[in-house]
Parts: sequence; C-alpha cells; structure tokens
Amino acid sequence: MGNVTVIGAQWGDEGKGKVIDWLADRADVVVRFQGGNNAGHTIVVGNSTYKFALLPSGVVQGKLSIIGNGVVVDPWALLEEIERVRAQGLSITPDVLVLADNACLVLPMHRDLDVAREARAGAGKIGTTGRGIGPAYEDKVGRRAIRFCDLGDEAALGAKIERLLAHHAPLRRGLGLPEVTSAGLQTLLAQVAPKVAPFLQPAWRVLNSAITDGRCVLFEGAQATMLDVDHGTYPFVTSSNTVAGQAATGAGAGPQAAGYVLGIVKAYTTRVGEGPFPCELTDEIGERLGVRGHEFGTNTGRKRRCGWFDAVLVRQSVAISGIKGVVLTKLDVLDGFETLKVCTGYRLGDRVLDYLPASLHEQASVEPIYEELPGWKENTHGVRLWSGLPPAAQSYVRRIEALIGARVDVVTTSPEREDIILIRDPFAGGF
Ligand code: IMP
Repeated sequence: MGNVTVIGAQWGDEGKGKVIDWLADRADVVVRFQGGNNAGHTIVVGNSTYKFALLPSGVVQGKLSIIGNGVVVDPWALLEEIERVRAQGLSITPDVLVLADNACLVLPMHRDLDVAREARAGAGKIGTTGRGIGPAYEDKVGRRAIRFCDLGDEAALGAKIERLLAHHAPLRRGLGLPEVTSAGLQTLLAQVAPKVAPFLQPAWRVLNSAITDGRCVLFEGAQATMLDVDHGTYPFVTSSNTVAGQAATGAGAGPQAAGYVLGIVKAYTTRVGEGPFPCELTDEIGERLGVRGHEFGTNTGRKRRCGWFDAVLVRQSVAISGIKGVVLTKLDVLDGFETLKVCTGYRLGDRVLDYLPASLHEQASVEPIYEELPGWKENTHGVRLWSGLPPAAQSYVRRIEALIGARVDVVTTSPEREDIILIRDPFAGGF
C-alpha cells in the first residue's frame, strides 16, 4: 500500500475532513503540510462531531499525526484545539502528535495585521479568515519569522524578536495599532513554549523514518487549488501552496512521497470570501444549494457562495496537482432538481476558453458555457452502493468524470463516515 495525498480541487470546503478520516483508518501516519488554523475540517463519527483547524485528522483514530514545516502554527490556537478535542475524549500525546520544530509561528500581531488590513481594504478586501495566516507567511519568506525551534533559546530569541518588531512597528503605527513591546512578546512566548515543547521534533526525520519502514502516509491538504497562492484566483487566495506538489516540500520528503493524488470535489461549487466565481448563482437555486448543503464555514461560520459544477476549474486542478482520482462529495444535495447545469467552458468576449485565465480581470469577466443534464427525483442521501443511485445521478457522475479527465473513485452521500459509494479503492489505485 502506498501513500495518498488528499487535496481540494475547487475553493475549499469540498468535504476533505470526512474523506481524510475515512482514509486515515488505513494509513499509519497523517501529515498536514500547509496552511494553518484558517482550515476547517469536520469529522462526524457516530454522535461526535470533531472540528479541526490545525490538528491532522488522524488524531481521531490515534494515528501518528504530523504538523509539517509548511504549516504556520498559532500555538495558542493549537493548545486550545488540543484541549477541546481532549474534552471530547481524544488522547493527544507526543506519541500521537508531532509538531515540526522548523515550522513558523502565527503570532497575535499577525492576526491584528490581517484584520486591520481587511478592515481598511474596502471593496478590495480578500475575505480572509482573519487568523493572521497571510502576515505569518510574509514573515516566513521575509526571513524574520519566529520558529518553534527558537523558543527554547531565550538568548537568541530576544534578537529575533527585535528583528521582527523592527519590521512590524512601523506597520502597526501606520494602521493605528498599539505598540507591541519586545518584553511583552518574549513573556507571551515564554509562557507558551513549555506547553508546545513536548510535541516538537524534526518532523522530516520522523516522516522519513516512517516511509523507510514502509508505513503508509496520508498527506492532508487544506484549502484548495483555486486558493493556491500561485495557481488560484490571485490575489483572492490564501498565502500558501495548496497543490499536491507542496505535500513534499511542506513535510520534508521527496516528491515521490506524495503517492496517489486524490482530489476532493464537491458535486457543485462553493466559495467563501471574495474573488471571481464564474458559476456563482445569486438566485434561488444558489440559495437552495446553500441551505440543502449546509454551506456555512466550519471555521468562521460565514455563508458560502454557491453555484453549478465548474468542470473547467476542476480539469485545471487535475492537471496542476496530477490528480489521479476524485472523491465526488455531497451528491445528495443535488436531489430533486429538474435539470442540472455543468460548466464546460468559458466565453470571454468572442473567444471560448477551456481554462481559467490568470488575469483577475479576465477571471471576473468570463461567462460560463453550460451543458444541461437531467436531474433526479429520488433521495440519494445515505446511499452506499453505485447501483443504488438513480440512472440520472450515475450519468451525472460519469459526465463529470469525462469532463475533468480523472476517474471518480468515491462518491459521498452524507456527512457520516460510512455513507460512501466506493467505485475504485484509492489505496488499490496502482501506485
Ligand atoms: P486566509 O487563508 O485566511 O488568508 O484567507 C484567504 C482566502 O482563503 C479567503 O477567501 C478565505 O475565505 C479562503 N480560505 C482560507 N481557508 C479556507 C478554508 O479552509 N476553506 C475555504 N476557504 C478558505
């Protein structure tokens, strides 16, 4: 059995949590490799609902769970999350959880900056989660971030804090934010350091030794291709690479470690926050999708924008991440529609495009070209067999498969862990 990398192929919220939980059952190690507590993965097991923002979903099943170097980690948010899921009965010990010692911290000043910038941006706001993710990644590539390995070295930490504040102080003044003192930040970090210390390790070593031992690794992507800082709808994106290639970089393994790339795709399209969305429906159909699909953010509670399935976007994600198979989620939300529409191309002026162009202006100007497919009246909620799907639903899945250029391995029909239709086993996908 090889490794599997799970990534979102639209704008996030495709239902990755449930799929990852299902796969984690058979994996030995689960790894987060990008993003931070802007993510929101919901896992429903029996009567318990777990909501994760930073913890790899493997903790539900007590699998070795690694937060890789590519993740930016708010230590206070992490500790709070650990306490919350401990209260739900999960055991989070250093045997289960490893935090990369070279991962960068998200600090309160990053959150301040994120929120203050958004508040001033007016119509140009990105619609971030306000968790400080963008500013934390800025400091990382600016080579002034505080990393977890710095927390244990108080003498050197002082100089690092000074360097960081030399950058932030004028920014904060300009935004009318109160000054952050070096002593204040050092105290905050000194308080949190011993609490995270037990989890710190060179995560790349832990991961590589697991791989050498033939253990099966599941790389858990957060956000999605269209939110990727390079490949997404820039600047309305998150600040990390969310594509499958990042699994290796953000965890400290070679590119071949990513294994079988499984794209998670919702049977329609949603997006949270601002930015272009060619298939968005602002009418009662969009409203109906939102209500039936419970389209409210796990993390921020924001209402998600909804639209028809966009095969152009997903085809692009398939290419960029090397997606081999797809999990098509929330098919049951489409029950009861007379007809369904699927976007197969875009019209831009007098041109027809089979891809989403890079320019923001063009992304915002493209008009979807739709193909209509018959809907179905039957209730597919909770269906677990392919043969249990009405023929029109089967045709819908098959048409999507043809349009995106990747096979549909799995269809999900409810938030419950067991409610899946397994067409081809991703773990037996010939990798
Ligand atoms: P940030 O990641 O908080 O900087 O937000 C940048 C953009 O990514 C915004 O449009 C967010 O709504 C979006 N975003 C970030 N994380 C998620 C997620 O887990 N699901 C869906 N959208 C997300």
